Amino acid sequence: MSAEKSFYLTTPIYYVNDAPHIGHAYTTVAGDVLTRWHRQRGESVWFLTGTDEHGEKVMNTAASNNVSPQDWCDRLVEDAWKPNWTALNIANDDFIRTTEPRHEERVQRFMTLLKDNGYIYAGKFEGPYCIGCEEFKLPGDLDEGKCKIHGKPVEMLSEDNWFFKLSAFVPQLLEHYKNNPEACEPASARNEVIAFLESGVRDLSISRSTFDWGIPVPWDTAQVIYVWFDALLNYATAVGLGDDPASEGGKKFAQTWPADVHLVGKDILRFHAVIWPAMLMAANVAIPKKVFAHGWLLVGGEKMSKSKLTGIAPSDITDHFGVDAFRYYFLRAIPFGTDGSFSWEDMSARYTSELANDFGNLASRLIAMIEKYCGGVIPAVAKDAGLAALLETTVQTADKAMVALDFQGGINAIMDFCKRVNGYVTEREPWAIAKDESRTAELNEVLYNTADAIRALAVLLHPVMPATTQTLWESIGAEATLGKISEQKISGVSTWGVLPAGCKVTKGAVLFPRLE
Ligand code: ME8
Ligand code: MG
Repeated sequence: MSAEKSFYLTTPIYYVNDAPHIGHAYTTVAGDVLTRWHRQRGESVWFLTGTDEHGEKVMNTAASNNVSPQDWCDRLVEDAWKPNWTALNIANDDFIRTTEPRHEERVQRFMTLLKDNGYIYAGKFEGPYCIGCEEFKLPGDLDEGKCKIHGKPVEMLSEDNWFFKLSAFVPQLLEHYKNNPEACEPASARNEVIAFLESGVRDLSISRSTFDWGIPVPWDTAQVIYVWFDALLNYATAVGLGDDPASEGGKKFAQTWPADVHLVGKDILRFHAVIWPAMLMAANVAIPKKVFAHGWLLVGGEKMSKSKLTGIAPSDITDHFGVDAFRYYFLRAIPFGTDGSFSWEDMSARYTSELANDFGNLASRLIAMIEKYCGGVIPAVAKDAGLAALLETTVQTADKAMVALDFQGGINAIMDFCKRVNGYVTEREPWAIAKDESRTAELNEVLYNTADAIRALAVLLHPVMPATTQTLWESIGAEATLGKISEQKISGVSTWGVLPAGCKVTKGAVLFPRLE
């Protein structure tokens, strides 16, 4: 008996050389929104994030803080990374650290398999290495001896290392990306990968001998496994790569692999779209269905980064706007796949017009009117054909966009519906109808239609803004009658008249308070 294949989504595992900034949060929030959306589609979902702890970069940071690398990693993970994801309401199913035995053991076993399969050989690496990128460079990647990305001098290596026959997989990879456009998105990323593959790819050094902060090469313990070879494997080791099919790990692997989406920033596209699938091909393991490379958050036109000290902490923004507005803003404002800049002005403007006015005020007006005109009880079910029809197309458009990782398109469709509901209330003027006792039936209709539209909005926006929509869900009386908001299915949202008559509304906290 095999369980349903889960929708399996991963984020990069982040280096623990420093605390998270909003660039890391951007990727992880996007992953969280997408997996919450898939859960509400009724799918089985597995969402993995974690930390990348080996390599020279982390080792050097620990040394400059006078602690051992392991202590440094433990501290950063427990004090900075995990609390950050909790604060941002990230509902990951697992968190992998590359220093965990479950990872290290499976990495070693995988490496041995690749050697047995004839894809690993001894060689000598001579050339530049950027510790910031943790990457072997070509002379053309440098600008006056400095890494073009980090602007820092590179190390010159001359080491006897183990090499992976990456070049052997180029024809297969090219065929794969040419035949399967959805395997690498957006199209600009796919074009970059194809051009890179066509430009000629060298074999890859996959071990280092001059330091020891890494997983030992199983047959040559004087060497540690190259940090990227170690890190990429996390996606598969976390779900039981190589375990006996009858074991728990083996069953988990069958249920999750291949990954549906590896979500990454465009800085690490090649590692994910070239090296990673080649490693899997060498082991006869299925390759991921999609690598999606999103754009960068920029500061002064450059990628926001830890090493350049331009990182903004998520709490700098959430302290002012709240967690849900943070989650909403970046996905709403920047087309996913394109670079974007953060600006306080733009965020304040959207917060006020879209969240506080269009969404928050709609909800608080409705609740105030139900209290005033209906004794706090949702009136009899009614149906406005126009709103009902628009809701149906809204759900279709939003669902199509969200599963295609077009977060902006999905959120826009939902917020357009929200605007239309505001228009409906303005046009129907329930406050005017209420003055005429002979029009009670009409008043009840308008209020019911508005309430059921808000029920739909709460469910559709729940993946994006889980806490605010929960508050709203409770205050329209839906929690008590329809059950948990997270269990409401996307497929059922456009059924009109779901909110039962007789629900008790209660005035809850203001959803989006006025900014200071
Ligand atoms: O590369 N804009 O870790 P990392 C948008 N450990 N996203 C950004 C960003 C920005 N300015 N800055 C960072 C590593 N990110 C490796 C990954 S995976 C097997 C190993 C996000 O700490 C984005 O997702 O440098 C980017 O790809 C990732 O953080 C890099 O994080
Ligand atoms: Mg980086």
